[in-house]
Amino acid sequence: MYPQQNGVGSGVESMTGYVVLAGASRGTGREIARLLRDRQQPVKALLRSEAARAELEGLGIKVAIADALEREAITRAMAADPVRAVISTIGGLPQDGGSRADYVGNKHLIDGAVAVGASRFILVSSIGSGESAAALPPPVLSALGAVLQEKEQAEQYLRNSGLNYTIIRPGGLKSEPATGNGVLTENPRVSGSIHRADVAALVCDCLFSEAATGKILSAIDRQQASGETSFEILRL
Ligand SMILES: NC(=O)c1ccc[n+]([C@@H]2O[C@H](COP(=O)([O-])OP(=O)(O)OC[C@H]3O[C@@H](n4cnc5c(N)ncnc54)[C@H](OP(=O)(O)O)[C@@H]3O)[C@@H](O)[C@H]2O)c1
Repeated sequence: MYPQQNGVGSGVESMTGYVVLAGASRGTGREIARLLRDRQQPVKALLRSEAARAELEGLGIKVAIADALEREAITRAMAADPVRAVISTIGGLPQDGGSRADYVGNKHLIDGAVAVGASRFILVSSIGSGESAAALPPPVLSALGAVLQEKEQAEQYLRNSGLNYTIIRPGGLKSEPATGNGVLTENPRVSGSIHRADVAALVCDCLFSEAATGKILSAIDRQQASGETSFEILRL
């Protein structure tokens, strides 16, 4: 199957190739996978295990097995088919006491995206990374310190990569149905919660938005803001 173009908006949809998605096995990545297929986008999921293969293939998604911590596996998986954009939601706990993927895994994905000439990279990071540390209370910051440090390194690496990027920093994630109240803002002092399904919708909207290019955006549910409650919303 050669992927067809089918987007709306600008830039990415004028290219052929897959939207490569890392993190599709569960959580926000799985929600993104579903939404991209609803929007008839050709999706290739990079998974580190076979567990989610059947469900994703059932959605019409091409699956490649590649652990983000293994540089060569990622390079190979990326180069095997044309790629127009890459989305990464990888994170969570390391497997079997191994390393976290938040920095090194994303670095490999970013290098792979550069190598294949992807036109866009969307990185799902976290509120608390970089200047958005100001949004979190000190005890939360210190509890998440090591993860946030890796997230920030990945963000920096992406910003210096030359790729057209969007960095989306969600607040606390909940696995509940979409509310439709998810919003993006450039204000780094905003904090709160957001449902994974709403983050997924924002990621998909950003994929085809010129307004989101080169931006670092916090994502919260406007009804679940816990920090600054008056802020400017980015219109995509
Ligand atoms: N939890 C929160 O409240 C919160 C708040 C803000 C931001 N975030 C960030 O938002 C993003 C999405 O979070 P989530 O909770 O929806 O996701 P999640 O359920 O934690 O899923 C993480 C995904 O990353 C994949 N992954 C991890 N290491 C990998 C590796 N080495 N190679 C390939 N895949 C790898 C996992 O695959 P497996 O299924 O194989 O493990 C899984 O698909 C993450 O980056 C997270 O850190 C989370």
